[in-house]
Amino acid sequence: MAGGADTRAGAGAEVPELVGVPLLGSLFDLKSDSLGTYLRAQHRHGDLVRVTAGPPGMRAELYCVFSPEGAQQVLASDSANFRKDNAFYQEVRDSFGNGLLTSQDEDYLRQRRLVQPLFTRRRVDGYAGAVAAETTSVIAAWEEALDGVVDVSDEMTHLALRAVARILFGADVEATADVVARCFPVITDYVLRRGYSPANVPRHWPTPGNRRAAAAMDELYGVCDKIIAERRGGPGADAAGQDGGGQDGGDDLLTLLAAARSSDDGEFDAAELRDQVLIFLLAGHETTATSLCFALHLLARHPEEQSRAREEISRVLGDRTPEAADLDRLPYLTRVLKEAMRLYPAAPVIGRRAVVDTRIGEHTVPAGADVIVAPWVTHRHPEHWPDPDRFDPERFTPEAEAARPRYAWFPFGGGPRACIGQHFSMLESVVALAMILRAYEFEAVDTEIPVGAGITLRADGPARCRVRRMVG
Ligand code: HEM
Repeated sequence: MAGGADTRAGAGAEVPELVGVPLLGSLFDLKSDSLGTYLRAQHRHGDLVRVTAGPPGMRAELYCVFSPEGAQQVLASDSANFRKDNAFYQEVRDSFGNGLLTSQDEDYLRQRRLVQPLFTRRRVDGYAGAVAAETTSVIAAWEEALDGVVDVSDEMTHLALRAVARILFGADVEATADVVARCFPVITDYVLRRGYSPANVPRHWPTPGNRRAAAAMDELYGVCDKIIAERRGGPGADAAGQDGGGQDGGDDLLTLLAAARSSDDGEFDAAELRDQVLIFLLAGHETTATSLCFALHLLARHPEEQSRAREEISRVLGDRTPEAADLDRLPYLTRVLKEAMRLYPAAPVIGRRAVVDTRIGEHTVPAGADVIVAPWVTHRHPEHWPDPDRFDPERFTPEAEAARPRYAWFPFGGGPRACIGQHFSMLESVVALAMILRAYEFEAVDTEIPVGAGITLRADGPARCRVRRMVG
């Protein structure tokens, strides 16, 4: 059993190391294919493996935890032993601010208390209409697609960005979506390069890379600050009531964040508000885009499952626009989505730093160690997922789900730092997929899509599908 004092004692058995090349360890393997390297580590050595990278003296050592029980310990039952103090989270913090995803300790607790009431189920359900409107406008353009071919990776990125910007900024979506689409890739590339490099030049040195990232950050911060200043001065700033809550209303999230306050926690100042907004844009856009992209592309390669999903959608919805209550009425589509998130979890790896020695299974993870849990690997764990690379939505029937350990599937993380946007993302994905599949039939043009592990998992190349308008 995981928990408290039991998990700290004893040196435990030696943690096996994935053998790489002399002197540099797995440096090149991690750079060229980190996800494949972690999978190989699990296949060769089991559920807790050390992966090393870099020359002696600068060597990074990563403790990789692959079992569902181990992931549960790191994220949930022993979460106090594992902090967001690793280099990767530090880089995200330096670029995207100290918002809900990146903050810790008192800062974090205060932020979560202020933000949580804005993510009640009822409030989030109220965003279904905005998602449906964005979906309609994105798919209308497909009628004119060249040769009837669309790249579902680009299209779903566009849709997910518009959807999250719409719930954050309301009518200001137009002013923000283009800037975010232009600036985000520059900043996320920068974070990744620095987060996984053993040594970095200081951010203020005038190198081309630093300058490019600083310009993108200036532009992105500028547009957020402008909207925040207008919102703070404008109507609606007092709309959300006292004590971090507010009545459910039609306000966008920024208005509610600007008005959130409690007697103990005060309210967010302008810089804190910007940090929250940036983190929501970061955490809420590429992630859902990835789920949608792969769900569509998997269906495009599996015509039987595609027909079955479409038959359910037609039967349940007819011609009407989907709403939040339809989530429970579309169980097959939800299974498709969950299976897509099993095979392509948008956060394929989740990192932490151990702050005390912690016993995981028969091994001890030492204080100070860099630790990862990896949905990418655990979602393919041979003990829990027979024939793991096969697309099979039936893995998510209620009976099959109940028979697996809780952390055999954890695309949204878990424990106290689990994804706050989980319900919004599921709602957005089901509403969008239902509308898309009702309107168009899909056939894959690119049959294999390479994936790249950026801040989130992404299609690393085109994910083109031929789309045919459904008649009737
Ligand atoms: C498929 C979609 C999504 C996936 C797979 C996903 C995944 C995750 C994961 C794994 C974490 C935990 C990170 C960690 O423990 O280090 C997380 C946290 C978070 N996510 Fe999501 N996410 C998704 C969508 C969203 C959306 C749509 C939003 C916002 C509207 C969002 C906002 C956040 C925030 C703010 C946190 C930090 C929560 C906290 O620490 O209290 N996410 N997400």
